[in-house]
Amino acid sequence: MRRHWQKKPLLVRQALPGVQPPVSRRQLAELAASEDVESRLISRFDGRWALRQGPVAKLLPYSKAGWTVLVQGLDLHLPEARELLDRFRFVPEARLDDLMISYATDGGGVGPHFDSYDVFLIQVQGKRLWRIGRQGMATSGALVEGAPVKLLADFEPEQEFELDAGDMLYLPPGWAHDGIAVGECMTCSVGFRTPWRAELARELLQRLMDDDSRAYQNRMYSDPKQPATSAPGEVPQQLLDFARDATERALKEPLALERALGEALTEPKPRVWFETGDVLPAGMGVALDRRSRMMYDRAHVFLNGESYRAAGRDARLMRVLADQRALSAKEIAALSKGARELLDQWCEDGWVQPVAGTR
Ligand code: SIN
Ligand code: CO
Repeated sequence: MRRHWQKKPLLVRQALPGVQPPVSRRQLAELAASEDVESRLISRFDGRWALRQGPVAKLLPYSKAGWTVLVQGLDLHLPEARELLDRFRFVPEARLDDLMISYATDGGGVGPHFDSYDVFLIQVQGKRLWRIGRQGMATSGALVEGAPVKLLADFEPEQEFELDAGDMLYLPPGWAHDGIAVGECMTCSVGFRTPWRAELARELLQRLMDDDSRAYQNRMYSDPKQPATSAPGEVPQQLLDFARDATERALKEPLALERALGEALTEPKPRVWFETGDVLPAGMGVALDRRSRMMYDRAHVFLNGESYRAAGRDARLMRVLADQRALSAKEIAALSKGARELLDQWCEDGWVQPVAGTR
């Protein structure tokens, strides 16, 4: 993290020795065909790029060179993928996005491009040649015209590495890269969330304003001192002051921004749904469902877009649940009655699941 994170690329040979692909190509084909899964099929035949957004009912023949299928959010669908993503929790969960997987036939790839976020590229099967270059967001704008995918027109690779199964390449945002399958291969990418300032502000201000339970919302504009005017087009100064005050109060409301941020960060992705369960059986531990997003700050715990005030021992245990994604039966026994009821509710909602003998 100190030397490379957001600074410079890092190649780690055998970062994950003996790694197994979290899916077979047959399972991947099934996922790509599903409405609930985000997927893309990209090919380059005779020098012509083509992109098809999923669901992809039928993939191309495995014997045909030059195509790739990419499945986003694999961690939401498969426990093995969630486990692989969990190995990257040395980065705060708030920054982790998802695990994507690509399958390619010989020569397949998405072409030279750059991403605006960090990425760990893990070779999970076969070989892929990665060519990378510094030229990124700041220096290059020229894209291949008419191509259905964003491709750098004048990609100038500075380094290249052939990755074997188990090898991993980290790239900071904006580094140009091009991965070309050397024979049939599979690559996982750990993607990150890197919010733009305006985008985050929009989301948070929207949440602050939608929350009409706050005291600061409950005041209507009044102007008993408004005299008759001969300049009706002019915005009254008093109305501007009221507007500024309303906005500032929303931001200054104690813990409101903290709440909005935690709820936004843990909001499940659009296509995520949970299978409802039962209350937690006595004597069992729990684990967070693979789709659950849980975080905390000094005053709250956040789970799947909801916030809860927590303090003392309950807060400490809920933080363990967020950090470890599991709580043992012994830890559960130490929860207050209220916190235990909450855990039951989460179990019924399918946000956490009973497990035997955790830790
Ligand atoms: C791939 O897996 O082919 C593409 C991954 C990436 O470039 O981010
Ligand atoms: Co990329």
